[in-house]
Amino acid sequence: MIEKYKSIGIYDSGLGGLSVFKELFSKLKNENYIYFGDTKNLPYGDKKEDELLKIATNIFNIFERMNVKAVVMACNTTSAVVYDKIKDKYDFKIYPIIQNFAKYIASQNYERLGVFATSSTINSHAYLKYIKLYKNNISIFEHACPNWVKIVEENSFDDEINQNIIKKDLEELLKFRPQKIILGCTHYPFLLDNLSKYVQRDMFIDPARCFAKEIINDLAKHDLINEQEKGKITCYVSSNPKSFSKNSKIFFDFDLNPMLLNEKEYFVNI
Ligand code: DGL
Repeated sequence: MIEKYKSIGIYDSGLGGLSVFKELFSKLKNENYIYFGDTKNLPYGDKKEDELLKIATNIFNIFERMNVKAVVMACNTTSAVVYDKIKDKYDFKIYPIIQNFAKYIASQNYERLGVFATSSTINSHAYLKYIKLYKNNISIFEHACPNWVKIVEENSFDDEINQNIIKKDLEELLKFRPQKIILGCTHYPFLLDNLSKYVQRDMFIDPARCFAKEIINDLAKHDLINEQEKGKITCYVSSNPKSFSKNSKIFFDFDLNPMLLNEKEYFVNI
């Protein structure tokens, strides 16, 4: 098949990657997309490098068998921890979120930035490392939010205990007086309504918009934009398609009709 007509694979541990997919889809409707929510392995954010590498390798192998032209790592945790280890192993394009976003944010006029992310992303210091590649005179304050992914996946924003967790994390990071706070986990933009109860909404930066632009520019540069076909969306999860379908409708405008990815297919090559 001509390369540009192949699908784009996108993955995350669950709902989070939809914040990236939504952005990409709004700008690029003619593509065929395959979204994979790895709900069986959720959350990624407390896993060690060897486990994340195994998980990401499985997902990349699945996408390779699906003959995609590109894989979008709509997941900060695997972009931070395993991208370097797998980036040269596949023939298709690979787009990691942090690395694509870092150059843009470093080009802006900030001197103090906060980052909210999962524990694994924060422990890797990936945001600090990649932003400092492009700009040295900047202070980055990193704060792990180990409970936030669960709050999004369970759709339990309004629970009082969870509200207090969110508020406390916010207070901790605000002590460093950042000019802006990067939402360094793709689940977190779904908490923006809650976050903006305490701090102005424009305090937060969702990397998805800039990430989607970078992906589109690079696809165009390599003549990989699918201009002719009408796009099709296929969605797989590794467990619980019903609950994914229900919760994804809260964030996405239509039913993604998630299908359970065949266990045998999923675990080939472990
Ligand atoms: N949404 C992903 C990220 O951006 C993974 C979160 C998780 O499963 O802990 O890091």
